[in-house]
Amino acid sequence: MAFSDQFLEELEEKNPIEDVVGSYVNLTRRGSNLFGLCPFHNEKTPSFSVAPEKGIYYCFGCHKGGGAVNFIMEIEGLDYPDAVRFLAKRAGIEVPEEDRKQTSSYRHKEKLWQLCRDAARYYHAMLKSPEGKDGLQYLLGRGLTPDTIVRFGLGFAPNRWDGLLKAMEEKGYSRQEMKEAGLVRSSMRQKKNPDGSVTEYESCYDWFRNRVMFPIIDVRGNVIGFGGRVMDGSEPKYLNSPESQIFNKRKNLFALNMAKKTKMEMLVLTEGYMDTISMHQYGFDCAVASLGTSLTQEQAGMLAKYTKQMVLCYDGDQAGQNAAKRAISILEKTGVSVRVLRMQGAKDPDEYLKKYGADRFRQLLGASEDQAVYQIGTIRQKYDLATDEGKVGFLQEAAGFISGMSSAVEREVYSGRVAEMAGVTAEAVKLEVNKAYKRRRYAQKKKEERKNLRPADQAAADGIKYENVRSATAEEGLLSQILLEPSLLEETGGLRPEDLSVELFGRALRWMRQRWQEGQSITVSAMNGEFQPEEIAHISRVARKNEGTVNEQAFRDYISVIRSEASKRGSKDLMAALNRRRDKQGYGG
Ligand code: CTP
Ligand code: MN
Repeated sequence: MAFSDQFLEELEEKNPIEDVVGSYVNLTRRGSNLFGLCPFHNEKTPSFSVAPEKGIYYCFGCHKGGGAVNFIMEIEGLDYPDAVRFLAKRAGIEVPEEDRKQTSSYRHKEKLWQLCRDAARYYHAMLKSPEGKDGLQYLLGRGLTPDTIVRFGLGFAPNRWDGLLKAMEEKGYSRQEMKEAGLVRSSMRQKKNPDGSVTEYESCYDWFRNRVMFPIIDVRGNVIGFGGRVMDGSEPKYLNSPESQIFNKRKNLFALNMAKKTKMEMLVLTEGYMDTISMHQYGFDCAVASLGTSLTQEQAGMLAKYTKQMVLCYDGDQAGQNAAKRAISILEKTGVSVRVLRMQGAKDPDEYLKKYGADRFRQLLGASEDQAVYQIGTIRQKYDLATDEGKVGFLQEAAGFISGMSSAVEREVYSGRVAEMAGVTAEAVKLEVNKAYKRRRYAQKKKEERKNLRPADQAAADGIKYENVRSATAEEGLLSQILLEPSLLEETGGLRPEDLSVELFGRALRWMRQRWQEGQSITVSAMNGEFQPEEIAHISRVARKNEGTVNEQAFRDYISVIRSEASKRGSKDLMAALNRRRDKQGYGG
């Protein structure tokens, strides 16, 4: 990272985590840790913890975690360098002069933004050139007007390996910068020299080829990435920029830069680029899209900054309904009200608008249902209320849903509605809701109990997959002990990072070794910039595992478990390779 380790260490020393967090959260001591109500999500019982010796915080509810700097980034909405400056000011220490490298990292980002902007200009120019004829025809064929094409800066990536590469080189960008922005890729090639020897060289090529291009622009107006669509039925239909220093899919929404200025009193969330663009073209300039993933907490937080009213406009299929259900629960936590639009006769808003026009779509938007009504309606569709069986099934499931509502008034109102739908008394539904409420509480309690037992579940909650739980558990132990006592790294000599079954942990081990060799400190907060926030949060949680003591026997056991699991995997791979070979020989012979 750009700030020196010495400075960061001083920063941490002078900003004890319990003091930093303590000025935002009421903390009470329990054992060696402190607990309080999480400032990042709504809760009534404290699941937010601070471990002073480790200098970290972690919330068991929303899985946010990290060091003092992460906390400030999160709560003050600052980026890393500004959070560091904030803490330096708080502790009355100076940000050292030579640490202005950080400014250069911002400058570097500016360079990448500029590069992406120039790339967008290039793609747009190509769309208007003879080489882009197919692209332009495709977009016009999908009903977009020339005006819309300009407004969204749509473009075309020519069917060449080095179109963009050459154009950007001419503008003075380096291949390294293009790779960092995710615009070109490279692979190693071999060249035979006249004397028979072989030279390896790196060959770069355009990542987007023969696709219509959708620039992705952040709320500040920077071009940060692209989506590229094929013009025929080939796969993948959309290719997106890879994650980079400037492009984080989880933290951006397509067209939010435009929709944030809408005069309509809502934002509409769609599933795709084309849906959003169509809506804008038909006058609904409040449309945005998540970027090929389900809605994230970060995105929900951003939307909530701009609106009080979200309308979900997902595809009508099962996948769309499931996505809507997930998005509702994420959005509700931010306090915005959520409505859901039901579409009939078209699979997505783009198709609907083209088929039925803007007026009918406006009616649909006006008739969109409150999320609770929508969800009860979705449950209703599953049952045949003409039969007793269907009625019972509906009442039970609906009661289960209502029991999850936090306000008593809401529970009352919706119980009444459900009673009406099923033709039973409101009392009967309330009874059912109370039963469901008790079941829910019981299940919640069970879940709490399981929390400390099931590493794989916890990891999944942090968005990290444990394929081999036995090995992963040992890997957790290994890393948490190293974070406590970095000199233990000296005893991991026989272990290769790729022996670790969890990719993140392998990367973390490699990083720790590197730091150790360079004589740098090994702390969770030093991971900033090298790891994603979710990854840091997960590692903070893992770091809390041991109760502050080094256990060398356990440490050696972890290593031997990891190695034995790795060698099992290795021999499985070998068997598979042998089998493949045998198959091949079989076909050939
Ligand atoms: N998506 C993606 N990668 C894919 C397919 C889809 O990133 N291989 C994302 C894109 O952002 C796309 C969205 O998921 O806009 C929705 O996908 P889909 O419903 O398949 O496409 P449509 O939006 O309907 O696109 P189109 O109308 O162009 O077919
Ligand atoms: Mn579509």
